[in-house]
Amino acid sequence: MSTKARFLICSPDHYEVDYVINPWMEGNVHKASPPVAASQWEALRGLLEQEADLERITPQPGLPDMVFTANAGVVVGRKCVLSRFLHQERQGEEPYFKKWFKKQRFEVFELPADLPFEGAGDALFDRERGCVWAGYGFRSELAAHPLLAEWLNIDVHSLRLIDPRFYHLDTCFCPLEDGCVLYYPAAFDAYSNHEIEKRVPEEKRIAVGETDATRFACNAINLDRRIILNQASAELRSRLEATGFSVFETALGEFMKAGGSARCLTLRVNDPAPAGAKAATSVQSREVRLEGHLLDSGLLDRALEATIHNGGSFQILHFNLGKQRQSTSHAEIKISAPSGEVLDTVMAGVIALGAVAAPTEETDAELKPVTQAGVAPEDFLATNIYPTEVRLNGQWRGVQDQRMDAVIVVDSRLETARCALFRNLKNGELVVVGSAGVRTVRKTESRDDRGRGSAEHEFSFMGAGVSSERRVELVVDQISWEMRRLREQGGRIVVVPGPVVIHTGAGEYLAWLVRAGYVQAVLGGNAIGAHDIEQALMGTSLGVDLKQGKSMEGGHRHHLKAINTIRRCGSIARAVEMGVLTSGVFYECVRRGVPFSLAGSIRDDGPLPDTQMDLIKAQEDYARLLKGADLILMLSSMLHSIGVGNMTPAGVRLVCVDINPAVVTKLSDRGSVESVGLVTDVGLFLNLLTQRLRKLDGERMP
Ligand code: ARG
Repeated sequence: MSTKARFLICSPDHYEVDYVINPWMEGNVHKASPPVAASQWEALRGLLEQEADLERITPQPGLPDMVFTANAGVVVGRKCVLSRFLHQERQGEEPYFKKWFKKQRFEVFELPADLPFEGAGDALFDRERGCVWAGYGFRSELAAHPLLAEWLNIDVHSLRLIDPRFYHLDTCFCPLEDGCVLYYPAAFDAYSNHEIEKRVPEEKRIAVGETDATRFACNAINLDRRIILNQASAELRSRLEATGFSVFETALGEFMKAGGSARCLTLRVNDPAPAGAKAATSVQSREVRLEGHLLDSGLLDRALEATIHNGGSFQILHFNLGKQRQSTSHAEIKISAPSGEVLDTVMAGVIALGAVAAPTEETDAELKPVTQAGVAPEDFLATNIYPTEVRLNGQWRGVQDQRMDAVIVVDSRLETARCALFRNLKNGELVVVGSAGVRTVRKTESRDDRGRGSAEHEFSFMGAGVSSERRVELVVDQISWEMRRLREQGGRIVVVPGPVVIHTGAGEYLAWLVRAGYVQAVLGGNAIGAHDIEQALMGTSLGVDLKQGKSMEGGHRHHLKAINTIRRCGSIARAVEMGVLTSGVFYECVRRGVPFSLAGSIRDDGPLPDTQMDLIKAQEDYARLLKGADLILMLSSMLHSIGVGNMTPAGVRLVCVDINPAVVTKLSDRGSVESVGLVTDVGLFLNLLTQRLRKLDGERMP
């Protein structure tokens, strides 16, 4: 027989909705009815009184939410960890609850003042498993969980809440007798759902739908086989009954206006400390430093956002704001995650933004050998586009061949590091795993850099973000200026054109760019080759006459005829030599010795003999031609442009032109300083660009 339950409650004498700190309270300020609230609360008390001992704390004026005693603290055995309310509106309750626990001779633990934790609202004792399930994401900070584990001497499982309507764990999760768990899965992230599924066998999981969840069915009080709650659907009721529970509904609508229900209105204060329990948590933390124009460049915000987005949580330990426009700020941030694995993901995100380990936590990178050729160790670190360094034997070493979506391989003497693709990994090679001992070197971005997209900064070269039609001309001016400078300095400009370049009649402009020495490599697919050659041989593009804009009789065969002609010659270069191909983009490439690579795909007709149908070879070709690129023009070719983007390290300027804003946003989103996106017709863009360059070159317009 279990001992009689004892609950702490607080009568609603001063209950009201006076402020808004959760979505339920919105629109409900001063809308709760005191007499109705009082009678609902009395009804709940009456139900509880039959089964349990009730302790009361005196309600206080000005603290309307004090009725929700679940948030007083969390109690296991004779120990209590007091709440640290996130919102100032509720912080006034803290001393009253503290006094009560002290008076009752609990051993009271207090968290540091800046570490929010909201008691049994976010920490639920599971009698069957002898553990505590703890929530984070809205009101409680993950970094509080290891302290709960230590102080209460118990195993704490952390769960991340993601739906603001279910801001406390007890609004969407309820451990029941017999190891059952009543919960609303959609309130949790994937990692947390996985944790729940790992620990609670399927037959013990009672998942509710949104309707029951929003009626606070999970905010239930469980006494032996009885469940007291606000409301349950017939379906949920019969499921609970089939599991051996009886359900008692008691209307608590007045309290739902403040975002609480049955469970929130109570705090069990005599849950027994489980025998033989040990403190345990899988929460891991790391301290990092971030330096730069943290506020005006939005860097701090992005780092914190990335932390939350990847399932972690943070505390800012120190922040030092640079006083002048040019002076930088720095922040020390403690990052926590529910497991080492999640921490590595979170860290990879902030490392990419330039965060470095706090000096006290700096260690060498962790390495694991490849045990199966072509396969990385499970916890490999994925690379990004930014110059990266790894710490080996206490020394920071720069990573060679920086690119995205690769792993870092270190030589056996621990002296050099480089990016490598899975497929090139050899047995025994050492791969960087986890996230320790890795940092990226980011240029300090200032507000001026980020503001380059705005109208006042049109001429500061390439601005952030996507451009409107109005800006095209101005941006073209900047690009042409940059292209001329690069040509003079012997720089490398790589063009990635899609077939639309030919369809829009802009092939001649691109051909001119090649002829004038503005292009050092062309990367595309079979289609750009086929269309350019069709246009050169027959004046059509996919059978459409480009001069008249009309489709030609039998024209649908034209591109096949073009491909066939080149196949007969053996290659594009041979066709030029033989005098078969006498104009167009690829003719100019051959004439000027500008290398090109055509990567094949499943839909390719022919293909042209030059098209590389072995995609691994094509990727290698692209990578080789991209080496040392200074500027890349991506012209309406989503697939090839994304491929190129992944291979290109930070610091290379990208210009992405596409009529589809989604493509432009995707490709130009790599830091503001080096990419510019233009949502416009590519034909128009190339026309303007060549006009501008011809003028600069002093050549007369045709
Ligand atoms: N208005 C209160 C708040 O937002 C409601 C608390 C409900 N308590 C709970 N354990 N879920 O803090």
